[in-house]
Amino acid sequence: MRNPTVLASGILGVNAALLKRVALSGAGAVTMKSIGPREKEGHKNPTVLEWEHGLINAVGLPSPGYNNLAQEFEELKAIDCPVIASIYGASVEEFAEVAEAVAPYSPSLIELNISCPNTKKEGQVFGLTRESAEEVVAAVKKVNGNIPVMPKLTPQAPNIAEVAKACAEAGADAICAINTVGPGMLIDVEARKPILANKFGGVSGPAIKPIALRCVYQIYEKVDVPVLGMGGITTGLDAIEMIMAGATAVGMGSAVYYRRINVFAQVCKEMEQWMKAHEVNNIRELIGAAHK
Ligand SMILES: Cc1cc2nc3c(=O)[nH]c(=O)nc-3n(C[C@H](O)[C@H](O)[C@H](O)COP(=O)(O)O)c2cc1C
Repeated sequence: MRNPTVLASGILGVNAALLKRVALSGAGAVTMKSIGPREKEGHKNPTVLEWEHGLINAVGLPSPGYNNLAQEFEELKAIDCPVIASIYGASVEEFAEVAEAVAPYSPSLIELNISCPNTKKEGQVFGLTRESAEEVVAAVKKVNGNIPVMPKLTPQAPNIAEVAKACAEAGADAICAINTVGPGMLIDVEARKPILANKFGGVSGPAIKPIALRCVYQIYEKVDVPVLGMGGITTGLDAIEMIMAGATAVGMGSAVYYRRINVFAQVCKEMEQWMKAHEVNNIRELIGAAHK
């Protein structure tokens, strides 16, 4: 990667032209919205709301399904940075099915969304326990060809570091943390009703940064594979904090709402300014610095 910033999944869809624009405006890598086994509609509007300290969303994982994405994948080959294909399934078998279908398109990485409220096994997200998380990773590692695999974890797990360790032992090549926090809700006091059509949704943006930092810090202590840290990162200083917690690269989702797609170049510039002022020559020197 030319820099450590990554577009998080779900923020700008799977459209190759849009993802190309993000790459051109300075992202180090881009992640596609999570791809499911079949075409799926999302929740009704409103699905994304901005509030004082972040966003809340219940988009419902709408997806064209992998069968309808051949053209996008073809166009994504021309992008000048790594492309991460995020996938989801409602069962271990579905995760393997989607991974096997997207691997031949040669994405740089397959991200396993085992942390979204919509990817559940018996009412629980796969990322909640080490057993169900490692089952998904192990199944995908049988069909991924030579594409590295990165499960995306949930802060709802009682022990996220244990889940990360189990995933690494099952063959995960990297760990992504975190997905949204919650579920949460907002109420329209005039209408006396929940605002999201789905009532409840995942919380993201600045409000969740301390939770994301804690998760990445704990994961870094338990695994040797690289960690893609995200959750509330909006500025260069936030990104440096996340890297000091143990992240090798930093994802941004909600920040794109606040600072538009130039956010990647701006955050890199802010990081460089901090590094210059503190005489840090290589960002790698800062990975896990808060642990020493
Ligand atoms: C509108 C919206 C849609 C999202 N869709 C996905 C998704 O499809 N797959 C996924 O793994 N994460 C999804 N996420 C979670 C983000 O990728 C990210 O993990 C989370 O928002 C925390 O980062 P942030 O605070 O920088 O937004 C979504 C987040 C938002 C706000």
